[in-house]
Amino acid sequence: MLCLSTESAKGMIALMAKGFILAPSILSADFLHLEDAIQAAEKGGADWIHIDVMDGHFVPNITMGPVVVEAVRRATDLPLDVHMMIENPERYLGDFANAGADSLTVHVEASKDLKGLVGAIRDLGLRAGVAISPGTLAERASEVLDSIELMLVMTVVPGFSGQSFMTEPLEQVKWLRELKLRGQTKALIQVDGGIDSQTAPQAKQAGAEVFVAASAIFKYEEGIARGIAAIRNSLGPYELGQ
Ligand code: DX5
Ligand code: ZN
Repeated sequence: MLCLSTESAKGMIALMAKGFILAPSILSADFLHLEDAIQAAEKGGADWIHIDVMDGHFVPNITMGPVVVEAVRRATDLPLDVHMMIENPERYLGDFANAGADSLTVHVEASKDLKGLVGAIRDLGLRAGVAISPGTLAERASEVLDSIELMLVMTVVPGFSGQSFMTEPLEQVKWLRELKLRGQTKALIQVDGGIDSQTAPQAKQAGAEVFVAASAIFKYEEGIARGIAAIRNSLGPYELGQ
């Protein structure tokens, strides 16, 4: 529980100070120099590190598993936000927790027992997140919306970085924001896919609070820190003198 409250507090501090949380996804990083890339992101102002786990079944791509999370854990103290795009996520929760994840996000489309999954993540002392792919209604997560920390609305079809931002899922972001305003969920609203300095403000306008970006940060021509700065600046000035 200590872990959950500490990490939640870190996220909330970033959110209150800046109005948003920036979570670079290492999917577009140079894996030969992953530690350098993560440290550059941290120095550039990243709040969390987002790790995209893909199994070649739930999505067509295969990426990384607990071994990589364990390595990233040794490279940074930032919260590790693990996005599980896999079938049978219940089998691997313990492995990712042991590897050092701080939050685990599962897809409703891959979950047979969403309530059980969320409970299992929380029992491990981690933040629980639920993701929806484009075309899935956030309402599908209704039974857990009062007990999760993170609701991820995908703004591309999950599977690959470097795709174009989709605006249709912003309707789900707006729906979630309404729910938050009515006090029916405390979950942070996260967007992921095609986020850059052009699209992040649109998502923020709809209600997004946590922004995931891979290519717009790790493949930014002028470098990782400037990629982060571009998105950060597009989201408005820092408050509290940051
Ligand atoms: C896509 C992943 C995203 C992806 C984002 O399936 O969940 O996190 O890496 O990549 P960009 O920011 O390049 O769209
Ligand atoms: Zn992701």
